[in-house]
Amino acid sequence: MTQTEQAPEVQDTPLVPIDKIVALSKRRGFVYPNSEIYGGVAGIYDFGPLGVEFRNNIRRYWWWSMVQNHDNVVGIEGATITHPRVWEASGHVENFVDRLVDCKKCKRRFRIDHLAPENVAQNKCPNCGGELTEPRTFNLLMETYLGVVEGDRMKTYLRGEACQNIYLDYDNVLKSSRMQIPFGICQIGKAYRNEVTPGNFLFRQREFEQWDLQFFVHPSEMQKWFDYWKEYRFEWYKSIINHKDRLHFREHGPDELAHYAKQAYDIEYRTVLGWQEWEGIHWRQDWDLSRHSQYSGQDLSYTDPETKERYIPWIVETSGGVDRTFLNLLLDAYEEEPDPNGKEPRTVLRLHPMLAPVKVAVFPLQKNKEELTSTAKGIHKRLQRLMVSQYDEIGAIGRRYRRQDEIGTPYCITVDFQTLEDQTVTVRERDKMTQERIAIDALPAYLLERVGWQ
Ligand code: GAP
Repeated sequence: MTQTEQAPEVQDTPLVPIDKIVALSKRRGFVYPNSEIYGGVAGIYDFGPLGVEFRNNIRRYWWWSMVQNHDNVVGIEGATITHPRVWEASGHVENFVDRLVDCKKCKRRFRIDHLAPENVAQNKCPNCGGELTEPRTFNLLMETYLGVVEGDRMKTYLRGEACQNIYLDYDNVLKSSRMQIPFGICQIGKAYRNEVTPGNFLFRQREFEQWDLQFFVHPSEMQKWFDYWKEYRFEWYKSIINHKDRLHFREHGPDELAHYAKQAYDIEYRTVLGWQEWEGIHWRQDWDLSRHSQYSGQDLSYTDPETKERYIPWIVETSGGVDRTFLNLLLDAYEEEPDPNGKEPRTVLRLHPMLAPVKVAVFPLQKNKEELTSTAKGIHKRLQRLMVSQYDEIGAIGRRYRRQDEIGTPYCITVDFQTLEDQTVTVRERDKMTQERIAIDALPAYLLERVGWQ
């Protein structure tokens, strides 16, 4: 298994309230509410300058692990709008529904599957004890229309799950990429759901991003590959979090399993929201390709080039959320560390260095000394070609460290008077706050070794 080095385990710290992450995200430019000047839209967010760097790093690491490091996996990027029949074949038009009840007294709305069994049995609101309405059913697919002429427009849907493109492109990939079973197709892409109860910041949104692997196998090898990907994905998440004890598997009970699934597991992470799904590992058998064969009329069966056996491949799916990863990693990394001298606590994001949005910050010790600022700017320019670097000369050095700690920058470089004599700088590490003196020429290799992934 090719995984990058594990992040070191840290001492347990209290679970972080979501509000702290919402505030930090807005203050420092990770995440903004979408259309905020118009009052916002529930469950839709935009990503700011730091958010987009962080997100790109998260995506890149997934792609690197899943596609680049597996000879038997390739990637695609499908459109978010497809033929409407796709969603009939997938079962979403019929079954992608939430059942909701409203409280007649306090007017709050609940998904039935989120209510405790006693509230359902007694028809009682968990908030105020009021009576609940009869359940109503809502389809989560977002409708859209293709074409401009009224009466001649085709109704279709923004994709409700990203993975459908993989089934649609399976035959094209097979024919164009010399892949043979067993092999997998990966994709990262947006999905849209008219969630009736969006909330908890990025946790449940209406527009969000998923990463999927669909791995196509001979039925006799299904269990082997299911076990392989289940473990691989667990280790992957473990490699990027600090609190390893907050990660576990939850096996789906018989009442949750799809009729074709022998097994399913959620990788769950514990936050203030409790244990919640981060990624699902699903046994999809031949359901998807059989349904698309049936609805499209195109035979999606596979002929083994050696044995000539013809069969519909079975599928192992690993399906997770980019946004949920974004949120969980911030919750995992955020810490307010008490100051030993009784000053303001230090807010630090202990992000894995390879995922941190900014890798290095370069400071001149003083801003009014031209030799210091020009040397610092020169180092920043040189490093910027290799990684995300920030130059900062504003305020006391201590405050500049704090600004970088809060966004998770793993290394800060200070150019001081000794630099002008011996061409060395101090490199200060975020977590232990240790400082080392390093030659300017050695900085690229020193940093790349610590912030890249091999
Ligand atoms: N193709 C399988 C599928 O879509 P899912 O459990 O509905 O399965 C997979 O979604 C992952 O997508 C979840 O584990 C979660 O990380 C993420 N996800 C699902 N709904 C989401 C939402 N409304 N907002 C943010 N992330 C969501």
